[in-house]
Amino acid sequence: MSSVVEHDDGAPRHPLDVVVVGSANADLVVQVERHPAPAPGETVLGSDLAVHPGGKGANQAVAAARLGARVALLGRVGADGHGRLLRESLERDGVDLGHLHDTPAASGIAMIAVGPQGDNSIIVAPGANARLTEGDVLNAAPLLRSAPVVSLQMEIPLPAVLAAARLARRAVLNLSPAVPVPDELLALCDPLVVNEHEATLLLGAPREPRKPREPREPDRQAKELLALGPRSVVITLGAEGAVVAEDGAVHTVPSPSVAAVDTTGAGDAFTGALAWRLAAGEPLVEAAAFAARVGAAAVRRAGAQDSYPTMAEVEDL
Ligand code: RIB
Repeated sequence: MSSVVEHDDGAPRHPLDVVVVGSANADLVVQVERHPAPAPGETVLGSDLAVHPGGKGANQAVAAARLGARVALLGRVGADGHGRLLRESLERDGVDLGHLHDTPAASGIAMIAVGPQGDNSIIVAPGANARLTEGDVLNAAPLLRSAPVVSLQMEIPLPAVLAAARLARRAVLNLSPAVPVPDELLALCDPLVVNEHEATLLLGAPREPRKPREPREPDRQAKELLALGPRSVVITLGAEGAVVAEDGAVHTVPSPSVAAVDTTGAGDAFTGALAWRLAAGEPLVEAAAFAARVGAAAVRRAGAQDSYPTMAEVEDL
C-alpha cells in the first residue's frame, strides 16, 4: 500500500524527510503493582496481556509520520501474525515499507512490565531484527542518501547501524539499548541521543564523588559524551526535558508537566520527532524542545505507537 516508488537507481520518486533503519517488535505488555525483585527467583502477578505494535525503529518511524513527516522504515519482520500487526500499524501512519523485508524468523518481541507510575522494564527477543544485514543497508543506499536524516537505534546488528550511519547525510542515533560501539559510529552521530541511564552506562561511574560547585550531573555528562566524539549530544531527562550539547555549550530544554500512564516508547517518540525537525532544517536546540513536547504527550496513553500524538495534540499541550 505505502511502499516507496523508486527510480532505476533505487532512489525514491517522492522526497522523504527521514529514513529509519531499525527494529520492529510486538510489545507484550503486562501492568504490575511492582516490578520483580532485582535478584532472580520472584514471581509477581500482573494484569491481562495487551499486545501493542512497538520496537524502537518502528516507533521512531510512526512518531515522525504521525506528526506529518514523510518516512521510510528499513528493517525486517517475520511473516507471522506479529509481523502483520507491525505492518498494519506502520501503514496506518503512511510509513513507506518498500524496504521492510519479510524474514523466515519470528518477528521481534518485547516483554514489557509497566508499573503504577508508568515506569517499565523490558526484555527483547530480537527475532527477525537480528537478521538485518549490512548488505540490506547497502542495497538501499540510494534511499538512505535521498533523505536529509537517517534515524537509528541499537536493536539491530551493529554492522547494519554502522553502514547506515556511513551512508547518511545526517545520522541521528538513539544509543538504546546502550552497548559498546566503535569511535567511528560515535563520530558520525549528529546528535547522539541517550537517556540518563544510558549516559551513565556509556561514561562509566564517575571516578570521584561530585563536589558541591560542580555542574549538575546531566550537563557534565553531556559535555563528557561530546568529548567521546559525536558532533552533538542530547540527553533526555523524562519529565525534566532534555539537555543538548553542541559546539562546547550545553542548553536545557523543558518538558510540559503531564500525568504519566505509560512511559514505553517515549524516548522513541522524542527521537522520531527530533529527526523530523532536523530534517526540516531546524536548529538542534529548537528541535529538541519540540521533541520534548512530543515525548511528554506520548506518556499520557498506554503503549508505544498507540500513544503517539498528532501535531494538533502537541500544539494543545
Ligand atoms: O523503546 C520502547 C521499545 O523498546 C518498545 O516498543 C519495545 O519494543 C522495545 O523495543
